[in-house]
Amino acid sequence: APDSVTATLRADQPGPQIHPDVFGQFAEHLGTGIYEGIWVGTKSKIPNDGGYRRDVLEALRAIKVPMVRWPGGCFADEYHWRDGIGPSKARPAKVNTNWGGVNDDNSFGTHEYMGLMDRLGARTYVSANVGSAPPAETAQWVEYMTAPKDSTMLAKERARNGHAEPWKVQYLGIGNELWGCGGNMRAEYAADLTNRYAQFAKSANGPMLKIASGPSDSDYAWTETLMRISGKHIDGLALHYYTRPRNKDWNDKGPALGFPEREWATTMAHTLEMEEFITKHSAIMDKYDPEKRVMLAVDEWGTWYDPAPGSNPGFLQQQNSLRDAIVAGLNLNIFAHHADRVRMAAIAQMVNVLQAMLLTDGPRMVKTPTYWVFDLYQPWQGATALPIEVKSPWYHKDEVAIPAVSASAVRDTAGQVHVALVNLDPNRTLPVTVSLAGVQAGAVTGRIVTGAAMDAHNSFEQPDTVRPQAFTGAQASGGTLTVTLPAKSVVVLDLR
Ligand code: AHR
Repeated sequence: APDSVTATLRADQPGPQIHPDVFGQFAEHLGTGIYEGIWVGTKSKIPNDGGYRRDVLEALRAIKVPMVRWPGGCFADEYHWRDGIGPSKARPAKVNTNWGGVNDDNSFGTHEYMGLMDRLGARTYVSANVGSAPPAETAQWVEYMTAPKDSTMLAKERARNGHAEPWKVQYLGIGNELWGCGGNMRAEYAADLTNRYAQFAKSANGPMLKIASGPSDSDYAWTETLMRISGKHIDGLALHYYTRPRNKDWNDKGPALGFPEREWATTMAHTLEMEEFITKHSAIMDKYDPEKRVMLAVDEWGTWYDPAPGSNPGFLQQQNSLRDAIVAGLNLNIFAHHADRVRMAAIAQMVNVLQAMLLTDGPRMVKTPTYWVFDLYQPWQGATALPIEVKSPWYHKDEVAIPAVSASAVRDTAGQVHVALVNLDPNRTLPVTVSLAGVQAGAVTGRIVTGAAMDAHNSFEQPDTVRPQAFTGAQASGGTLTVTLPAKSVVVLDLR
């Protein structure tokens, strides 16, 4: 095997646009993902803007969060939207049966979600309750959100609750994981229900793309059935795939920190399976939808470890380290390679849950290594994908053998070309030579996310251990880019 990386960037063969919503986020009523993490209420001592944490808003705006999926997840198929409207004090408390058995006082409801989207300038993705509520409930929720000012009873009720103008619902989830927590359905039954709920949910305020509850991992039979029965009635099919380090055993996933190199290696190998899952689900979708009208929406992805020591296991709290940064870079590169079909995605989850952007503890907040990777990839939002073919040496550890380096490239909306390189080998710095076709580079600058240890992370005491640094290991001359790519790093280069 070669001990250097060679790549060819074809800027002369531009691909599809990378939809900004591929950089979307997921925020569920789960643990402190919303309550405490985003919403503290107006009476809180934590600085807030109308009840939303100011530190969190500012951090999320800085990475231009394009879209947020809410309210679940498993939570969505037990959620009744009427519990979350009207005067906050009059809203009923409910037990969150999926996540920790704690009370949810419903103080964060539709108006609060929409207020968050307004403050972030983000598109909306609302997941409807298909598992335990009738289709009329979904239809009425959509009417409540989108009916014109002063029109229907529900529009007037919305106005009485403080918002006369309609909102836009850009995406509507037709249930969540209907094969599991959404109702343990067979694919045929789920597809029939999908058609039924989709039929009666009508936005009165612009297009609303309907996303069916899709497969998990390699469940190709689910995709086949959903596309066959529902393909014409939906705009997207969701794919959920979580990276679990060990043998994909839900009860023994491994810790978020202090793991051996073997678990680093299996984490990377399992993450790379996303490529195969997307390719094979897309091939099935192509049979029913050769025009690629229906998107594959990877609306739950990321790492899932054993819960943080001492935390409520139902809260899915975990630290986030350099390993997560690499996982993020690998997945974002894979999505870029499939920009034609993957036009929306949501990492699980935005704040305090699973592979989070931000962690909070009372008034404190910390940006994770994953946050910084999303920061590096900002030029990818809305950019044109450029093909980049990579020949990489392999990384070997125990039973794992995988290519060490992954890449993606784009031409951004201002015309500038950017290249992302991810070196998942934790031990080896690799020389990279990229031949450039269709673009001249006189100079190159860049930023890197890396760290001394595989589990380098940011704590509340030391919040800046992992953060982007200026990268000086790349040179450009005419048609060639040469890079000295450090071990365990994500590098984004800007060609000039
Ligand atoms: O993200 C946590 C949970 O994982 C979601 O609620 C569910 O859809 C998935 O199983």
